[in-house]
Amino acid sequence: MERICVIIDGNAYVSQKLTRYLSWLSVESKYFKNSGDTKATLSEIVKWFDENEGVVAILDTEEPTYDHKSILVDNGIDSFYIGDGSTVFKDHTSFIKFNENNITINQINSHLQSRISYFTLNLKPKPRTIYLSRHGESMFNVTGQLGGDSDLSPRGFAYAKKLPELIKADTDAELTVWISTLKRTSQTASYLTFQKLEWKALDELDAGQCDGLTYQQVEEQFPEDFRARDENKFEYRYRGGESYRDIIIRLEPIIMELERQENILIITHQAVLRCLYAYFMNVPQEESPWMSIPLHTLIKLEPGAFETKVTKIKANIPAVSTYKEKGTSQLGESATSTSSKSRDLINNV
Ligand code: G3H
Repeated sequence: MERICVIIDGNAYVSQKLTRYLSWLSVESKYFKNSGDTKATLSEIVKWFDENEGVVAILDTEEPTYDHKSILVDNGIDSFYIGDGSTVFKDHTSFIKFNENNITINQINSHLQSRISYFTLNLKPKPRTIYLSRHGESMFNVTGQLGGDSDLSPRGFAYAKKLPELIKADTDAELTVWISTLKRTSQTASYLTFQKLEWKALDELDAGQCDGLTYQQVEEQFPEDFRARDENKFEYRYRGGESYRDIIIRLEPIIMELERQENILIITHQAVLRCLYAYFMNVPQEESPWMSIPLHTLIKLEPGAFETKVTKIKANIPAVSTYKEKGTSQLGESATSTSSKSRDLINNV
């Protein structure tokens, strides 16, 4: 199995972002801070690879590491350096070197290394705001049906009308609005005057043969699938449809683009929003499909190197709950009730 130690020269922002990105992609990875004893830190990294079947160690360091590189080489670990002109780079090493106006990339040896490079090159450590919202309440939400491409309900349209006001009250910034290809997101964005961009990758989780059914109908018609999904919601793939893991894979280009952008509003769907939220908030994958993301609530994210600040802006327009507790086929009472621990994940931020 591939083992890479990414050695990042004095850049906590890149180190933290890369660690979060890799764990979101389910790559076994860990962040290490070099406290000064480079040899000891590299030995600690080797131990972590051996004990955890590690794939990528991210070493945040201001100390030169090249002299101790043999500790990695002898243990079958490739080193990959990321730094500025002050870092020592050798021609036969894998590295990304940032100078004032140019970037040199040398010896990218694997698909994983190229993904790490691409992500790193896209990072823009500028303060910005990302707004996330589900579409307004849809007709399928009202009837409890999954998937489909239904219109907004009257209350969903009321949310769409209020959205420009909610944003204006929070920021004067020019936003770009990203929506999915489904009607309920474009209808939600229809009163916003910002530039809009449609992404297929932002479409809702494809429920395959269960599209258009209610949870109760799924339980009756596909009892084994219903149980299997509750057992492992992240991995369960609907017959002819998708799993949460599938969504993560199709969201990778969105994350890349998001890291390059400034202020964005993303109007998307429950499952997709959970995955985006999990990326910024470092939510473990087994928890992310169970997070409560109520309708008619604007989520404001202000990403930093070590953490992302979250603010919830409620529109105060009633909507049904689309939240199904584990082990039941019933929907929750309303978007504002918080009866289980997992539901509190978003509600308490
Ligand atoms: O099927 C579409 C839903 O938005 C996904 O919700 O994963 O909680 O069933 P769920």
